[in-house]
Amino acid sequence: MSRTVVALHAAASVTGRAIAFEEFPYGAEHFLKTKETLPGGALERLRAFDAILLGALGDPRVPDNRHAADILFGLRFGLDLYVNYRPIRLLDDRLCPLKGRTARDIDFVIFRENTEGLYVGVGGFFKKGSADEIAVQEEINTRKGVERICRHAFEHARRLGRRKVLMADKSNALTFGHDLWQRTFWEVSREYAGIEASHMYVDALAMQMVRDPAQFEVVVTCNMFGDILTDLGAALQGGLGMAASANLHPGRTGLFEPVHGSAPKHAGRNVANPMGAILSAALLLEQIGRAEEAGLVERAVVGCLRDGRTTRDLGGPLGTLEVGREVGRRILAGEPGARGADSPGGRP
Ligand code: IPM
Ligand code: MN
Repeated sequence: MSRTVVALHAAASVTGRAIAFEEFPYGAEHFLKTKETLPGGALERLRAFDAILLGALGDPRVPDNRHAADILFGLRFGLDLYVNYRPIRLLDDRLCPLKGRTARDIDFVIFRENTEGLYVGVGGFFKKGSADEIAVQEEINTRKGVERICRHAFEHARRLGRRKVLMADKSNALTFGHDLWQRTFWEVSREYAGIEASHMYVDALAMQMVRDPAQFEVVVTCNMFGDILTDLGAALQGGLGMAASANLHPGRTGLFEPVHGSAPKHAGRNVANPMGAILSAALLLEQIGRAEEAGLVERAVVGCLRDGRTTRDLGGPLGTLEVGREVGRRILAGEPGARGADSPGGRP
């Protein structure tokens, strides 16, 4: 996390537009001390900021990681951040696990619905602990919720000149909720004449993301499927350590976090790859209208990748801190190099 803040400061110092940070202690340490996850008034306070940067949550000292779910879902739901924007971009050909694929083939975005679906926590146990136990976990899909994420995907495509939006569901088996997705998606698609709308069942999409990722531009899907597909997407980019994400509600304060968790087995060992978090900060900069700084950050990361200045998960010799320092140094030096097609340029 601190590496990410350093990168943001470095980018801000290049353009001379300082960024003020306020740190909140929401995390395992605070929870263990106080039993508090998000304190009362937290959402109101956070709404006053331009953006929120969230470090990965999760700590083995907290059984079942209750704090992590409460904080993360508390923010996603509480701030109504219905767009989970997860770009899938290969920044260096050598990071792709697929044979023969290059950065040109892997450049699409997944919009994951972020406020409903299976994540709403509606359900319960009956006869818990007995041989007759029943567990119910409801999937909630609302017309409004599905419509706004579908519309966001099309708006994104229109803004960035993307030609195709694909919706993935499981309407062949989930005959109510995903029937709603079907009807809503096709209806919204009619408002976007120049953009090709298409559909895949999510199982087929998973296969196609491996077989031919170049065919995708903009993908929209429900909360649960988006969660799974974006881990697969992370692998296409070089692993969980590379994947960035933004939780958004257009016009409101967004929350930016890497796709990965806290990786407790790496804690304190200076081995975790900070690039996913740093690239999330680039999304943050982009989102708050600081595209120039976003470009500086991204180019610095691309430069590190090109020169093998990475952590060991990517085959490099460096530790977390050294990569962070190297990214910061390259930001200050103004790393030259081309930016990708539309990212982080162009607001999600
Ligand atoms: C993610 C994570 C979270 C999710 C977990 C930590 C609850 O996997 O952001 O993708 O499922 O949304
Ligand atoms: Mn996930």
